Amino acid sequence: MEERMNNVTSISFNRGVPCVEAFPVSEIQECAAAILAADAATVLQYGKSTGYVPLRETIAEWYGARPEEVLVSNGSLQIQEFLSALLLRPGDTVFVEEPTYDRTITTFRRHGANLVGIPLEPDGLDIEFLATQLRKVRPKFLYLIPDFQNPTGVTTSLSKREEIARLAERHDFWIIEDGPYRALRYQGADVPLMRTMNPDRVLHLSSFTKILSPGVRVGYLVVPERVVEAVAKIATDTYVTPGLLAQGTAYEFCRRGWLEPNVERLKGIYRPRLEATAAALREYLPGADWVEPEGGFFIGITLPPAMNVANLQERAEKTGLSLSDGRGFFPQGGGERFLRLAFTALSEPEIREGVSRLARLVSH
Ligand SMILES: Cc1ncc(COP(=O)(O)O)c(C=O)c1O
Repeated sequence: MEERMNNVTSISFNRGVPCVEAFPVSEIQECAAAILAADAATVLQYGKSTGYVPLRETIAEWYGARPEEVLVSNGSLQIQEFLSALLLRPGDTVFVEEPTYDRTITTFRRHGANLVGIPLEPDGLDIEFLATQLRKVRPKFLYLIPDFQNPTGVTTSLSKREEIARLAERHDFWIIEDGPYRALRYQGADVPLMRTMNPDRVLHLSSFTKILSPGVRVGYLVVPERVVEAVAKIATDTYVTPGLLAQGTAYEFCRRGWLEPNVERLKGIYRPRLEATAAALREYLPGADWVEPEGGFFIGITLPPAMNVANLQERAEKTGLSLSDGRGFFPQGGGERFLRLAFTALSEPEIREGVSRLARLVSH
């Protein structure tokens, strides 16, 4: 038995990370060397907590914003932490999609937030449910991942984005729009950013993690200038300066025009993996409920009640399969039948084998 186990390939659907082939290693090396040659006095020194100015300018241009409306930090999770420190006091209510990104749940809870989950439909939030909740309580903010959501892969439709932006205005709350997957669209057309619908109410977050590398730790915030100033104070008190060498390297990568081709290359790696996951689900788990994502890193599936999910993670580990615990994505309970399948770090044969192993586990 042990020998057989040793021969079984271990497959993890649990890691929402890029594959190693995704990293443009030699290009990053070149960019780091170039920025050190060009601007060592800045990138090796303490600087402002708002980030490396040329990168702020670049990002501002992408968004049609001013550089003063951009803050660059050590990853976007760090910015979520800063926004929580700025906006939340214990007992405040925060609305989130249900399910939502598990780390975000942890961050908001650490700041004492009371989380209300708004059910997610195949085209975004259940607007009626949202409106009903808004009659009961005004949230400090609504946290959304409108493009290729983590953990479901769902994209919020244009009409729902517009309706949510209207509700934010009427009920006076912020929207945090988290968009790290947005550039990784494998099919279909972009849906406008929520930020464009109401730049005074939408706090837009994104990151180089999925389009360059998580290890460079470069994430950013595009918001009204007064919010940049308030977040910058917290950032200064936290670390004085973010990682400017990383920001300078990311800037150089953009300046050379390498980001867009890199994103196209990544789509070429990830699109077939998404397709392989969808095909394997159709073949091996035809009863599962899921939405086919148009981009991103994940497919979220709900297994039908007839399937056996008892101790699923534990049983899966014994067959060399790592699965997320769906309950972690549901802030108010539930998720026992939910699984997030992260496909970007797996080869197509691994995906097929993993889904078939999962199907065997839940079938008896
Ligand atoms: C929705 C969402 N936001 C933020 C992050 C983290 O981004 P960063 O690496 O920039 O901190 C992730 C990473 O998985 C994510 O899925």
